[in-house]
Amino acid sequence: MTYGSGDFRPSGQIQFGVFFQGVNSGTIWKVPEAGSQTDFESFRRVAQTAERGLFAAFFLGEGLRLREHLGRIHELDVAGRPDAQTMLAALAGVTEKIGLVATQNTTYNDPADLARRLASLDLLSGGRAAWNIVTTDNAWTGENFRRGGYLDHADRYTHAEAFVRLAKEIWASGPDGASPARTVRHEGRHYTVEVAPSLPPSAQRRPVLFQAGDSAEGRDFAARQADVIFSAHPKLEDARTFRADLVDRTVAAGRHPNELLIFPASEFILGATEEEAREKKAWLREQQIGPQQAIAFLEQFWGRSLAEYDPDGPLPEADPVVEETNETRGSGFHGARARQLADQWRAEAKDKGLSIRQFVTSQSARRDASFVGSYESVADHLAEYARDGVVDGFNISPWLIPSGLDDVVNHLVPALQERGVYPDEYRGSTLREHLGLKEPSRA
Ligand SMILES: Cc1cc2nc3c(=O)[nH]c(=O)nc-3n(C[C@H](O)[C@H](O)[C@H](O)COP(=O)(O)O)c2cc1C
Repeated sequence: MTYGSGDFRPSGQIQFGVFFQGVNSGTIWKVPEAGSQTDFESFRRVAQTAERGLFAAFFLGEGLRLREHLGRIHELDVAGRPDAQTMLAALAGVTEKIGLVATQNTTYNDPADLARRLASLDLLSGGRAAWNIVTTDNAWTGENFRRGGYLDHADRYTHAEAFVRLAKEIWASGPDGASPARTVRHEGRHYTVEVAPSLPPSAQRRPVLFQAGDSAEGRDFAARQADVIFSAHPKLEDARTFRADLVDRTVAAGRHPNELLIFPASEFILGATEEEAREKKAWLREQQIGPQQAIAFLEQFWGRSLAEYDPDGPLPEADPVVEETNETRGSGFHGARARQLADQWRAEAKDKGLSIRQFVTSQSARRDASFVGSYESVADHLAEYARDGVVDGFNISPWLIPSGLDDVVNHLVPALQERGVYPDEYRGSTLREHLGLKEPSRA
């Protein structure tokens, strides 16, 4: 398969990462098999299982404040998401090879401080650290900081770019063998700083850079600055469109298209047979979209409480209260779009005879990132991705913690290895080596 402009070459292999989501996710915490979202034991168990399966990386997201819903704390969310870098530092001590990826935003951090903390993780893990760069798309997080919910969407990426350039310069300027540290001076719209970097380069020189953010600005930013993009496009056709788009953007940024890897977010629902996997999926969706979750989903778009509606009844006749929906307070639609959407959804649900809960389940199916089937059939499907080169790997969100990765590692990984599309061993000791990325030059 050829993609976009330039001479993109498929590697013929795929790799895995694991995204321990914690809160706000498809992870089910209310079943007896679920562990704790804060105990170190959960993180250790998942990271070590992933390492047994030769996963390239273990990811943690970032949520600095509890999510809000209709202007209040979202009561259906699981609370508790330990700081990523602290948790990864502890995991560095109980793992040997796996990459450790911390999601950290550029909107509220400071470059010299974050660069130093990431370099510390990189040194202490022997060159296994990575930074998943996000700009964070909500203003409630901003309220944690003196600056408040500052920076418009477009500004977030110019700010992020200045931040990341500065961090790279700091990492390239630390004391290195015979060469002393160089002072980094930067004067610009976003920062005026003078930094004397105190840490030498790690075994992989500097942390690997991931990027997660899907707008045109986010993609261009990744094309210029990132090593890996954590995408939201796992399904084959969609992933192909995304790859072609990123190849074009990477070439336009003056880089070789193979310099930017793609790892989409994904969910695996596996079984010994197709039927077992399908049954598991039906059960899982029931757990993920309970009656209260279905109502809360609609409330995001209606901008008001819908507690009086029966989740097993029809969609609300009442119109959305658009004045109360606010982009920074929830992820619903606003203004005329909310009313239009409500009309469209009511018509669709009526037409198909769907209750609120059934309708919400069908909506979430559109964003479905799941691979469902027997180990053998899913391995065949993923082998097609590998041959095509459409993605470089998958970032798997286990829906059950801490055992949710066991069947991937025990059954899917060997099936992929048999097909020659998954590594048989770690290529080296650093994350950069596992991913086959070039060493950054000393700027
Ligand atoms: C797969 C994926 C994972 C993300 N994970 C996080 C996260 O853990 N914390 C966070 O604050 N934002 C996360 N984001 C969102 C980013 O904050 C992103 O910068 C935001 O969506 C704004 O950028 P955009 O408009 O380019 O999408 C994620 C985005 C994607 C696509």
